[in-house]
Amino acid sequence: MTYFFETYGCEMNIAESAAAEQLFIARGWKKAASAQVCDVAVINSCSIRKTAEERIEGRLGWYSGLKKVRACRPDAKAKLLEEAAEYVKDGPKPLTLVFMGCMAERLRESIKKDWPCIDYVVGTFAKHHFGEIIDAVEEKRTPFALDDTESYKFASLSYEPGSFSCFVPIMHGCNNFCTYCIVPYVRGRECSRPVEEILKELEVLNGYGVRDVTLLGQNVNSYNGSDKNGSSVNFAGLLQRIADYLKETSSSIGWVRFMSSHPKDLTDDVIDVISKNDVLCRHIHLPVQNGSSKILSAMNRKYTREQYLDLVTRIKTAMPDVSLTTDIMMGFPGETEEDVQATLDLMRQVQYESAMMYYYNPREGTPAAKMEQIPLEVKKERLQRVIDLQLEHTHIQMSRHIGETAKVLVESVSRDNKAELLGKTARNEKVAFAAEKSMIGSFVTVKITELSGNTYRGVLLS
Ligand code: SAM
Ligand code: SF4
Ligand code: F3S
Repeated sequence: MTYFFETYGCEMNIAESAAAEQLFIARGWKKAASAQVCDVAVINSCSIRKTAEERIEGRLGWYSGLKKVRACRPDAKAKLLEEAAEYVKDGPKPLTLVFMGCMAERLRESIKKDWPCIDYVVGTFAKHHFGEIIDAVEEKRTPFALDDTESYKFASLSYEPGSFSCFVPIMHGCNNFCTYCIVPYVRGRECSRPVEEILKELEVLNGYGVRDVTLLGQNVNSYNGSDKNGSSVNFAGLLQRIADYLKETSSSIGWVRFMSSHPKDLTDDVIDVISKNDVLCRHIHLPVQNGSSKILSAMNRKYTREQYLDLVTRIKTAMPDVSLTTDIMMGFPGETEEDVQATLDLMRQVQYESAMMYYYNPREGTPAAKMEQIPLEVKKERLQRVIDLQLEHTHIQMSRHIGETAKVLVESVSRDNKAELLGKTARNEKVAFAAEKSMIGSFVTVKITELSGNTYRGVLLS
């Protein structure tokens, strides 16, 4: 039997889709060439912005049409779905549609009524029931309702076959309630994964050939797990245990990074542990959201512009070669031109290597949605100025490394030039260089010779 995943949203969703996919693979299921010809299709949804939800609703419309074709209904528009029409030429082939993720959690009560094409709604607290869904499909049973009243269970192994990089969720949920954000409502309160479970997962991933690991959480700095002795371990403690464990076990995992870091919780002991352990990448994603203290306060971010800049100075003093990336949101209620200038100025001071940039999107049920809104054109224009400045900074920051040698994880053959391989640096930058295919999956040393768009070109040294 075959499955197909369609994943929207952040790294947490990518990790949870990969973990659910492992369950299908363990049962001998295969990945389908397309959703049109699979037995189970899974949409892993995101609620972060209205635009994300609208796009997903568009996909649900498409799946409604697909299910009609697959059921050979007379009202099916088979012409639009040729592959599916061909697939059912000998009779109907049922398709089970699973809707999971944050939008499934947010609209748990109504989504199935609005979209009868969905067979299973799997909220963020119910995804460990995936195995039961697979059982029911294999046994051709009618869909049943899932119990989502239990506490969050971490997905085990978010490994994508063949990949050298992998996400490892270490904590889940969020207690911060930034006034614009839907995440605390759809992902619940913070909970942390036990230390030994994380170490065990690293061991398994190492065995699969994974070389680069990203520890995941909405705010990894508030990690508060426990070890096998029952002692509590904070984020700095976890990073140190991971670094020690990888050394003791001579693991081939060469890079460990993390996201996201809430600036209010990134303490000096975390900076210290990164600067003392080479396995921890000097690449920190530190979402600022805005450069104005007034807007940061309205967002409930719990730090000021000055505190953020002070944190950046402490990080850069401890690790002059650090690469900082961020998230920026423009057009939050109450933002003035002065606030926009404060954000542009903060960007000039920090010099981010890259940034995820958005305009504020009101989310029903969050405090900021009730505040007086800024017109869409104004938000878009402000966002464009931020994007333009960041493009300049990305170019300046990346150009600084031309002429340097870099440790590179080789990931694949370049799609544009089959004689070249593609890899990435510890700062997550792409590098293309000529080398033997046998190097895929290993760390090599490359001299960076030029920058073409956002990809370096280089020469293999060893
Ligand atoms: N926990 C992370 C943090 O606090 O930095 C952020 C996680 S959130 C999934 C990713 C990004 O989405 C946020 O940093 C923010 O910039 C953006 N975001 C969240 N809510 C938004 C909204 N209502 N409108 C626009 N962007 C939003
Ligand atoms: Fe959302 Fe803020 Fe939590 Fe990040 S810290 S997930 S932006 S509420
Ligand atoms: Fe979206 Fe949920 Fe992530 S709302 S951004 S998938 S935590």
